[in-house]
Amino acid sequence: MIDVVMGLSFGDEGKGKIIDYFSNDYNVIARYSGGPNAGHTIYHNNKKYVLHLIPSGIFNNKKCIIGNGVVIDPVILKQEIIELEKDGIDVKSNLIISKYAHIITPDHIQKDIENEKILKIGTTKKGIGPAYTSKYERSGIRICDIKEFYFKKLEDSYNYDVLHDFDKNILLKYIESLKFILNYQIGSLDTYLNNKNLEILAEGAQGTLLDIDFGTYPYVSSSNSTIGGVMTGLGVSHKNIRNVYGVFKAYMTRVGNGPFVSETKGKYGKIMRDVGKEYGATTGRERRCGWLDIPALRYACMINGVTSLVMTKADVLNDFKEVKVCIGYSYIDENDGEEYSLYTYDNIIYSRKDIKPIYKTFNGWSTKDNIEPLEEYIQFIEKEVGVKIEIVSIGCDKYDLFKR
Ligand code: GDP
Ligand code: IMO
Ligand code: MG
Repeated sequence: MIDVVMGLSFGDEGKGKIIDYFSNDYNVIARYSGGPNAGHTIYHNNKKYVLHLIPSGIFNNKKCIIGNGVVIDPVILKQEIIELEKDGIDVKSNLIISKYAHIITPDHIQKDIENEKILKIGTTKKGIGPAYTSKYERSGIRICDIKEFYFKKLEDSYNYDVLHDFDKNILLKYIESLKFILNYQIGSLDTYLNNKNLEILAEGAQGTLLDIDFGTYPYVSSSNSTIGGVMTGLGVSHKNIRNVYGVFKAYMTRVGNGPFVSETKGKYGKIMRDVGKEYGATTGRERRCGWLDIPALRYACMINGVTSLVMTKADVLNDFKEVKVCIGYSYIDENDGEEYSLYTYDNIIYSRKDIKPIYKTFNGWSTKDNIEPLEEYIQFIEKEVGVKIEIVSIGCDKYDLFKR
């Protein structure tokens, strides 16, 4: 059977830590979407690791799958493997790559950088959008397509005189990395992953509000981070999906451009960034910070069929005098000039420039010695979204959490 851990906001909800914590109870951990735009942070033996492609179960010696829905940058994957193996983590016998996964080429990365000059989405510049474009355009290269003739084509272009040394070095590193990852286990995984006797944990990347269909388009990533991505990105039956754990922070962050109605740039936003160390795990960029958005959370629970919630980073708000939560939005209608309120999430209205949050204010808490206001906050969220918060994470170490 399959359980899913996925993000309910704009990514970076703390999925990596929660998957690391859960993974002992599973045989297989499988990434289903996204690519090296993801950065999943895990502390293992007091060392901080940021995983971009390898599933967060690798530290527990579990089978780790990179599914067909993922786009793979061979250079980043090679680096990641080497770093883990250097620390004695067994990647060789645990990592299995779907032969149907597409690869990111140096051209995709270049295209992403060029597109950004016009689109200004604030992408991670990892070539994600262009790689998925090639896939859907049917000109992509899958892991199973990397045969001798592909290397020959690459090597021929390497010998081509017009290439500058810089481009030659990139190409050389790319070819070398491709050859390196071909030494790892590659297979078609659909039959394996549909075995009901296996306990599988599907690892989400990004978050619901970055989903290509349901996020704040065009300020989104290029794959389905939502529940459908599990089926298409792994080739598993919907009948096997059991629990869907939705992860969200006690507040909210977003890295990159795009609407963020409950963003708070003042004193509280600054404390969130400093205490929560809100800097991108992949790009090091400052994450924008703000209050939790209830209508968006309720929407994410609805479309993903979330069965349990996991709230992370409750400790970051320790000793705040007050904690706000966005319960709705107000906006001025351009036809009649009247002010309207909306208590549900709609990504078109959410993206309007004139939209403002409607807040409810709670007393602050301390996860060390004043837990009661936190419990009140939690119960309010549960009532509003209709799903139980089963786990509350209060620190970045694997066991810094409590169950409810
Ligand atoms: P992911 O992409 O969803 O896996 O999340 P990231 O790793 O990008 O970002 C989450 C950050 O918050 C990481 O630096 C984690 O170490 C950290 N983190 C996770 N849970 C907690 C928590 O409960 N409290 C604190 N203070 N930090 C946490
Ligand atoms: P994890 O798995 C946070 C954001 C980028 C940008 C937008 C599009 O760590 O939660 P892309 O490079 O995907 O074309 O960028 O999506 N983004 C993420 N933000 N966490 C992530 O992954 C992200 N992956 C992409 O910042 O705004
Ligand atoms: Mg991240």
